[in-house]
Amino acid sequence: MSSDDAAERFLDELYPYRHESETYRRIPDQGRAADEVIAEVRSFARREDEIGDDGRVSGTLYSGDHEHYHALSTVFEQFAHVNVLQRDMYPSATKFESEIIAMVADMLHGRSGEVDACGVVTSGGSESLITALYTYREQAAANRGVTRPNVVMPRTAHVALDKGAHWLGIEVRHAPLTDAYVADVDAMADLMDDNTIALVGSAANYAHGLIDPIGNLGALAMERGVGLHVDGCLGGFILPWIEANGVEVPLWDYRVPGVTSISADTHKFGYALKGTSVLTYRTKELRAHQWFAYPDWPGGLYVSPGFAGSRSGGLIASTWASLVMTGRQGYLAAARDIHDAAQRMVRGIGEIPGLEVIGEPTFLVAFTSDELDIYLVNDELKRRGWRMNALQLPAALHFCVTRPNTPDAVVDAFLGDLRAAAAYAAEHAGETSESGALYGFSGSLEGHATITGLMGGYLDALHDPAP
Ligand SMILES: Cc1ncc(COP(=O)(O)O)c(C=O)c1O
Repeated sequence: MSSDDAAERFLDELYPYRHESETYRRIPDQGRAADEVIAEVRSFARREDEIGDDGRVSGTLYSGDHEHYHALSTVFEQFAHVNVLQRDMYPSATKFESEIIAMVADMLHGRSGEVDACGVVTSGGSESLITALYTYREQAAANRGVTRPNVVMPRTAHVALDKGAHWLGIEVRHAPLTDAYVADVDAMADLMDDNTIALVGSAANYAHGLIDPIGNLGALAMERGVGLHVDGCLGGFILPWIEANGVEVPLWDYRVPGVTSISADTHKFGYALKGTSVLTYRTKELRAHQWFAYPDWPGGLYVSPGFAGSRSGGLIASTWASLVMTGRQGYLAAARDIHDAAQRMVRGIGEIPGLEVIGEPTFLVAFTSDELDIYLVNDELKRRGWRMNALQLPAALHFCVTRPNTPDAVVDAFLGDLRAAAAYAAEHAGETSESGALYGFSGSLEGHATITGLMGGYLDALHDPAP
């Protein structure tokens, strides 16, 4: 393929509507009719949903139930125009937000015995993680005079923490993993010093879906007098229900002494609309370091709990609705189906020559190979309609099982296609794969050689409309 063809193909992948829908470069003089706009948007949505609705996508969709989404959207609509900052006008926002936090804290065993966890609703997992970093930085500065803060975490901790640390002037010390692909606690201990503001562990991590040894990390954190944030953005809304269904899951929540904060994403396995996560803290003392107050602004006395200023009342209301509509029975049933499907995948992948499952997964199954180019496996899976998440260091793929993936027919079809994809990779050994490991893109761009150049194009595309 010539480089011009590759560039055209890339543009068509990025802007599939560029030949059929008007590209706006300035606000149109006359506004368009709402019906027409809705019809156009609906046609995009229908086509894009088809990709996920048949269960061939890893992660991303979580619920997949369009009636559920529709009900949440109806709730959203009631408060879509509302700014929750205006609490006096919209007291329901206070009801929704406080109840979301209470329900999540309870789910994480943060409202029993002596623990009385509190929290904040954020815009997503990344904001929850970055906010936690900020809080620990402020706590360490206030209580211990730390001015050159560092955070210690396993290399699988979510990369949003690296981004946040970069923004907040915090040094990140990455610890290696054990042979079981989880945090090496001794290595983390060695990386700590007087400027360490917190440790981080995951339950479960994005790459391999594995739970770090949170019990040992909690003990280390307490011994050294620092906090421990558990990133439950992905696992926070599924592990509690898998455990409640009778599956043995190592403890990772507020039952573990030393765990001082946990993030759990309502917009993932909480089945809410995209745009919310909950950051919880074991104590109000810790949360207090998150508040910002500035008394001398002409606009008024300013007190703000987090990164956001104005926030949509619609998101808070619909997130609350997702929790109360799904209910404990709904979460338990979904977790049972997801866990069963994931375990069938673990067994099936174990029977495919050349493939090896990483660690002991609960709901997200990562697999690698010593013999095959796993990205060639991904190329063939992609041709067969599957959208996996591609990983690196080591090269691997993962399937984060969500509700649309749970029917037996989907699992059987996946295992059949994976077997065929492994055979394809064996036959084409040594050839260059098209897939790479680009977070959020299912590793589907043009291949290792062109990926870096094209990435520049992708970033430009966020600013420039279709050519
Ligand atoms: C373990 C983990 N933490 C944090 C995040 C970031 O969440 P978000 O994409 O909502 O910012 C993710 C996203 O997949 C995740 O898997």
